[in-house]
Amino acid sequence: MDRDQLIVPGLRHLPANFIWGVATSAFQIEGAADRRGESIWDVFCRRPGAIADGSDGLTACAHVDRLDADLDLIASLGVDAYRFSIAWPRIQTEGSGAPRSDGLGFYDRLIDGLLARGIQPYATLYHWDLPQALQLRFGGWPGRETAYRFADYADTVSRRFGDRIVSFATLNEPWVVAVLGHEQGIFAPGLRSRAMAMQASHHLLVGHGLATQAIRANCQAEVGIVLNMSPIHPLTDTDADRAKAAIDDGLINRWYMDALHVGQYPADVLAHLGADAPQQLPGDAALVSQPVEFIGVNYYTRSFASTGEPWSAQASGAAVTDMGWEIYPEGLTELLVRLHQDWKGPRLIVTENGAAFADQLVDGEVDDQPRVEYLATHLAAVDEAVRRGVNVTGYFVWSLMDNFEWASGYRKRFGIVHVDYDTLKRTPKRSARWVSELLRQRAAQRLANAS
Ligand code: FCB
Repeated sequence: MDRDQLIVPGLRHLPANFIWGVATSAFQIEGAADRRGESIWDVFCRRPGAIADGSDGLTACAHVDRLDADLDLIASLGVDAYRFSIAWPRIQTEGSGAPRSDGLGFYDRLIDGLLARGIQPYATLYHWDLPQALQLRFGGWPGRETAYRFADYADTVSRRFGDRIVSFATLNEPWVVAVLGHEQGIFAPGLRSRAMAMQASHHLLVGHGLATQAIRANCQAEVGIVLNMSPIHPLTDTDADRAKAAIDDGLINRWYMDALHVGQYPADVLAHLGADAPQQLPGDAALVSQPVEFIGVNYYTRSFASTGEPWSAQASGAAVTDMGWEIYPEGLTELLVRLHQDWKGPRLIVTENGAAFADQLVDGEVDDQPRVEYLATHLAAVDEAVRRGVNVTGYFVWSLMDNFEWASGYRKRFGIVHVDYDTLKRTPKRSARWVSELLRQRAAQRLANAS
């Protein structure tokens, strides 16, 4: 590969201390299900037809058993930081009570292993693997008690690891948990009720507020929350599509940003929800809107709102990833600029961005040039947002390695490292080499600037 081709042209505005990282989540890579409690995703995977390839997370990438080699792999990329999640049922088998020493010990080894390799640990407390016992006892997130259990878990985790964690995110993508899990039924726990989904979203945010307080009481780490957000464009220039776009934007973007920054849900969305709007208790708004240090932004594509036929990226002829998601880097600039302008809130970190492609391992190599282009154009989109004055301080590739992609099972590959699911062998793809070369060049530049 010609070295000059590797540099993303024009990444000139990212600050010198910009944090580069890769991301994963516990259920998607860890395996070692015999050393943790059951989660709602274990139960959901057993539901016939729920997972495209009928698979589960029992073994996944066997990350728990391959920890040291995986840490070396992360270090070989030259990243500054690693974003991982802590599996709640590995800490508390049933979501409450005394913590498991084996679970605490595993994350001690992970965190210490990162620090020993000069990599900053970014931990997410909840990336969807709710202890099944809490689903059974309290009805999961639609039940308020789950938020209190979450705060207790956050207390345990921040007491134990808070001295070494640089950055805690309370929740990953509460919209996905609420809507895909409780309204559309395509993610765990597989329910179909809008009222439950909205109640779940409120309790997730209450849990976020309580967990934030617990973390702050125990350590100095920064605290934030990770949201999946997209620009929502009306499909046609009709009043109906514009109105639909405004409500969809309200449900996905403004619902969370307003609750977190303004301390109230958007009035138009509450009116739209009617009787499905969530029950709130006095004091909730202040709890949810207490200050955080960062908002994590997970960006993959934009959305179209239509009152007619739903838009299909494929049918429209747009370039798409293997998920069928349109490749639209401009949307990332648009989103970051809009978050900055409309909420003037805390700084932003791109906590997930990446793409699935139908990679082929040929003669021990994966030539995933489309992923390289996806990452390069999206990084340029972040750079453009920074040029326009947005405070973005980091970027994490989703994902370090191929893994269990939820309802798609193992069929969709997002990794910059290929995983052979028969042998569990890891093979860095061309994109991994591209990331490490980019970071090598950045390190050389830093040295040059310092001298
Ligand atoms: C996000 C999830 C992450 C991964 C990517 C593709 O919604 O946070 O776990 O599945 O999508």
